[in-house]
Amino acid sequence: MNQVLDKIYETQLVEDIEGNLINPFPTSTPYDIGTLFQQLIKQHNFNRTLEVGMAYGLSSMFICQAHQDKGLGSHIAIDPFQSSEWKSVGLLNVNKAGLSEYFHFYEEFSYQVLPRLLNQGNKIDFAFIDGSHHFDYTLVDFFYVDKLLEVGGYVVFDDIWMPGIRKALYYILKNRMYELVKNPTSSSIPKRIGRFMKRFLQNPLETNYSGIKSLPDNICVLKKIADESEDNRPWDFYRSF
Ligand SMILES: C[S@@+](CC[C@H](N)C(=O)[O-])C[C@H]1O[C@@H](n2cnc3c(N)ncnc32)[C@H](O)[C@@H]1O
Repeated sequence: MNQVLDKIYETQLVEDIEGNLINPFPTSTPYDIGTLFQQLIKQHNFNRTLEVGMAYGLSSMFICQAHQDKGLGSHIAIDPFQSSEWKSVGLLNVNKAGLSEYFHFYEEFSYQVLPRLLNQGNKIDFAFIDGSHHFDYTLVDFFYVDKLLEVGGYVVFDDIWMPGIRKALYYILKNRMYELVKNPTSSSIPKRIGRFMKRFLQNPLETNYSGIKSLPDNICVLKKIADESEDNRPWDFYRSF
């Protein structure tokens, strides 16, 4: 894989510029999810990737490593708090891992950067939405990601244990042209049952739309199945979610 990533998962530690050791979990992507991203990116030859929320750079490194393995690709990461909150450890890690040539970074809020990327005519094949976890910010991230994403592209949402993230997913699956992608998982049966119970107990009346609450991992992968030009919703279209 990559020696820097290997060492982080082995020691469960990252290092800042002064040599201080920090535990990057649970903020950062678990190993099995990082490798799932790599499989998806390689399998579908997704060369243009984007991530909202970088923190210690673990998901960025998995994605950039997939580009390096393919020999082609470019990854955009957005995080307004990289230097203030994360002591630039994410940028340091990408650099240490030798992945800088595949990487572009914006230290701004996603709601500032995404419209600019759209105006510049950018397109993407894969996005990971893992920034602000509030419902409204997540939906705004999705709104722009949708406009940037090619048909057939994937968008991954992290932290579906949070009701606000699930609500955004229900909106998308009921109102927009996206379908759920089910992936192989390494989560054990007790872990899967625990996750379902936690999601169920948060709101027993919440409909398990598309089986989101029963997904085995803490992420949800959606595939874009139609183009904006095929968005022929009547002007007053709305399906409750
Ligand atoms: C869970 S962490 C990201 C972890 C990273 N994706 C990983 O798996 O290694 C969430 C990140 O979102 C960032 N964030 C919060 N609000 C944001 C916003 N409005 N736009 C972009 N990033 C934001 C935070 O600074 C934090 O680094």
